[in-house]
Amino acid sequence: MLLQAWRRRWWRPDQPALAAYAGLRPMVVVTGGSEGIGYELARRFAASRNDVMLVARRLGPLEQAAARIRADFGVETVAVAADVTAPNALATIDRALAERRAYADVLVNNAGIGVAGPFHAQAPEDVMRLLDLNVRALTTLTRHFLPGMRVRGCGGVLNLASLGGFTPGPYQAAYYASKAYVLSFTEAIAAETAGEGVRICALAPGPVPTQWHRRARAGNAYYRYLAPVSAAAVARSGYLGYRLGLRVVVPGPLSPLFALFLRVMPRRITVPIVRLLVKPR
Ligand SMILES: NC(=O)c1ccc[n+]([C@@H]2O[C@H](COP(=O)([O-])OP(=O)(O)OC[C@H]3O[C@@H](n4cnc5c(N)ncnc54)[C@H](OP(=O)(O)O)[C@@H]3O)[C@@H](O)[C@H]2O)c1
Repeated sequence: MLLQAWRRRWWRPDQPALAAYAGLRPMVVVTGGSEGIGYELARRFAASRNDVMLVARRLGPLEQAAARIRADFGVETVAVAADVTAPNALATIDRALAERRAYADVLVNNAGIGVAGPFHAQAPEDVMRLLDLNVRALTTLTRHFLPGMRVRGCGGVLNLASLGGFTPGPYQAAYYASKAYVLSFTEAIAAETAGEGVRICALAPGPVPTQWHRRARAGNAYYRYLAPVSAAAVARSGYLGYRLGLRVVVPGPLSPLFALFLRVMPRRITVPIVRLLVKPR
């Protein structure tokens, strides 16, 4: 209660703007919510009695994920098949929300891809797809939903960054750079909106055993064995950190130490180590 009052210390209700949300109900929108970390985050929000909307491209896995969450937690769970990089993605999500008389109370920008290997050998279209999803779509969705959150003085944005966002990442150069953007962008917006009632948080896990690494063609790189944390544990930490109003959450017993190491040590020392760890084998 006291924490909520502190979080809203600069928030002033704008009644005409608030009236637009009268009779609507809150939903948690999770991009990439059909599997991996996004699915576990959706489950975590659902476990706390939030209705959730899962957004991903393939309808089959989406519907299965939504059915499991519905059965386990009894909350409304909506599956929306959309590529969040597509020009009509915002309209599709808005329409799905309007059909349920709902608004995006929380936005979880989780969908993200990687591309591994020497940068000069990566297909240009793969690199552009990565930037489109990890940077452009995340920014577009945040820009779209944040104004409503500020009006309501509650809700917020949980952006998936990565431990890789703390350092340049040879052999995953564009991916690490995209996550550095997510960290910087999220912390900046969190500072801008302090006291307005919203929570803006970056979740920065180390390696998590999901299909992501195979899709990124990261091979058997050593980093994958560096204190991996399950997607469920990442979601638990991310949810808790978000609820507490933290700006950056690094889950796991060892990853916070790695993040500190990457923050304080000179890059002349850290980057060659990262290079060794990330190089596909
Ligand atoms: N796994 C790790 O070690 C790790 C570590 C740190 C950070 N992260 C970050 O955490 C996030 C989730 O990773 P993950 O390991 O859970 O990935 P994942 O298992 O590969 O799952 C990715 C999810 O995103 C969806 N997706 C992919 N492209 C999309 C698009 N264009 N539009 C909408 N949905 C899309 C996928 O469904 P469809 O294919 O059906 O669209 C799937 O639901 C990513 O941002 C990743 O960079 C992962």
